[in-house]
Amino acid sequence: MTQTTTAGTNQAAAETATAGASSLRGGAHGIGGGGVIPGAIPQLSARAANPVLGAGFTVSRVPLAAGGIALTGGVPDPALLPIAELADAFTAVLGRPDAGTRTIQYHGPFGVHGLRSWIAQDQGTDLERVVVTNGALHSVSYAVEALIEPGDLVVVENPTFPLALQLFRYYRARVESVPLDSAGLDVDALERLLKAGARPKLLYTIPDFHNPATVTLPAERRSRLVELAERHGFVIVSDNPYGKLRFSGEPAPDFDLDSEHVVRAGTFSKVLGPGLRLGWAIAPSWLRDTFVRTRFAQDQHAGLVTQRAVEHLAQTDGLVERVVAGAVPVYAERAAVLFDALRQRLGDRFEARRPDGGLFLWARVPGADLTRVLDLARARGLAFSPGDGFDPDGRSVHREWARFSYSSASPEQLVIAADRFAQAVAEADR
Ligand SMILES: Cc1ncc(COP(=O)(O)O)c(C=O)c1O
Repeated sequence: MTQTTTAGTNQAAAETATAGASSLRGGAHGIGGGGVIPGAIPQLSARAANPVLGAGFTVSRVPLAAGGIALTGGVPDPALLPIAELADAFTAVLGRPDAGTRTIQYHGPFGVHGLRSWIAQDQGTDLERVVVTNGALHSVSYAVEALIEPGDLVVVENPTFPLALQLFRYYRARVESVPLDSAGLDVDALERLLKAGARPKLLYTIPDFHNPATVTLPAERRSRLVELAERHGFVIVSDNPYGKLRFSGEPAPDFDLDSEHVVRAGTFSKVLGPGLRLGWAIAPSWLRDTFVRTRFAQDQHAGLVTQRAVEHLAQTDGLVERVVAGAVPVYAERAAVLFDALRQRLGDRFEARRPDGGLFLWARVPGADLTRVLDLARARGLAFSPGDGFDPDGRSVHREWARFSYSSASPEQLVIAADRFAQAVAEADR
């Protein structure tokens, strides 16, 4: 794959995983059950051999032309990450006289106290509910691991985040979707589904600056969802990596964390850097204890050095807030530049909401097949994510839609990207 962005992307990871999955599928060489063949490798478990890895993001065969601009992954701009501060924090926690016991040892599965306490305060909850994880996706996977047997129902939004979908499929969940409207998850549609007899165990939602649709769920819908979860006995998993990256408007009051039916997945990925692999799950005690048992059975805890470094950084007065305050206007400007440039070039062929936070623009080009446009755009030096890759039902309902990530491109590159996109749309029309 030819990518010229400054950082790796989720899409790149998904493509690598696809390549890996195809070589793993060779169960034919394995042995199951009875006979022993000397030298044969064992048969993969059904879960490991399951060919769902790489599902989701659209992969094009057309190489990205030289000088290409990739508006694909939900990655923060490396220039906006506190790399020097992190270097200092790692040095400080490893340089302590007690580093041998405090920083570089085994630890308990909940995560370190100071970090949990910062997260609890930041998220407006009790420290006891906080478990440190390897990122938001890992937190979602805790909930799936705790609740989902093969065949159990998970309800997702349509469109949704492909890597979460991949996770649900990996655990062999049955997935049904409810549509989004301009205010996020359509709660009436969910209620109809429940009335028709659907019995989900888990509802997965991205409430703030949705990936890919950018919408934010209003408070009133959040409380209705909690009522429905409590009445129908499912758990809401609220995956919220972008909530801090708000450019305009007021944050909506969030899901009630005191409910026994709410799990919040959060992360340092978008603000401090995804390579840290550090995030949190906030869960009621019945689930929190399960998460901790899972962690203990698997690998005990998140890396202690990273936890200590981020704890140190978070305890440095106002540092996380300063990082956020530095990043938000940059992303706001990029969002506006891309939105305006696409609107100017496409006119009434461009339908989109102006993002008021997050890293993405979700746009519709009526009459276009944007999966086809992607090939033409890549040949011109632009990569984006066609909408079909975000459709949990695989019905191509988002064919006229695309997600553009503006986070890692300069305003000049975004204008060039809009030119290339408009040219590719025009070429596809011919
Ligand atoms: C909705 C959503 N959830 C989770 C993640 C991954 O977050 P993390 O790096 O914390 O696992 C992303 C990143 O793209 C995302 O968009």
